[in-house]
Amino acid sequence: MVFSKPDFICRYCLVFVYKVTDVVELFMKNIAKTAWKKEAQPGELIFHQTNEWRNTAGFMEQTIKLMEGFGYKRTMFKGQVIIDLGCGSKLRSKFFTDALIVGIEPLGSDFIKTVPWNDLNDAYKVFSAPAEKTIKELEGAVKFIMCINVFDHMFDVDKVLENCYKYLQDDGEFLLSVDIHKETNPMHPVSLTPKKLVDKIKKSGFKIIRSTKGLGLVGDNYGHGIAYTHVLHLR
Ligand SMILES: C[S@@+](CC[C@H](N)C(=O)[O-])C[C@H]1O[C@@H](n2cnc3c(N)ncnc32)[C@H](O)[C@@H]1O
Repeated sequence: MVFSKPDFICRYCLVFVYKVTDVVELFMKNIAKTAWKKEAQPGELIFHQTNEWRNTAGFMEQTIKLMEGFGYKRTMFKGQVIIDLGCGSKLRSKFFTDALIVGIEPLGSDFIKTVPWNDLNDAYKVFSAPAEKTIKELEGAVKFIMCINVFDHMFDVDKVLENCYKYLQDDGEFLLSVDIHKETNPMHPVSLTPKKLVDKIKKSGFKIIRSTKGLGLVGDNYGHGIAYTHVLHLR
């Protein structure tokens, strides 16, 4: 194919613009990661160290209302590997009896050392790492992922969706529930809209099976804004 000189220059400019966009995106992601490390996560650690409610019966009572409201039964993942993504210091995933719980929690080691009522040692495995990190041994090995009140706390939502897509078995399911709010603060650095979240989910390849707004008997949200919950399958 022969290009005229203006054609060639246009194509060259387009490639240049794409490269610049990539570099800017990478730069922004690095800024987000630095802020997450320096501000969000230290705040999160203090929150869990001082949040004594998680040490009361109310925590599992609320979890049961939440999970039953989303349509889950306690025995449905018996003997199966499930991920509690951003599990915090107490495992909501213990709602599921006899499941093999894998916690992915960047503050996992800190919670085990410093939160007296943590129950992370009840998990089959805990990866003390952010969910943006790809964990090879989980690829294709997981029946169910639950991620409650975490997506507005991370630094790269797209990468996390990409990883979750890799972890699920063909017939697996991903429960993604998050507060949506436009405003951000140091502990909630991700600003999402309902449409932005759906666009990101679709871009990652997941299919949305069902969605709900609010948390039924539990209220409107986990802390602020309005909670949206999506149940996702690979196809
Ligand atoms: C509000 S707590 C929710 C904990 C738990 N899911 C619950 O519902 O009780 C948010 C949790 O997300 C974790 N988190 C923050 N950024 C994360 C990331 N990039 N990957 C995985 N977890 C993350 C935090 O460390 C914190 O434990």
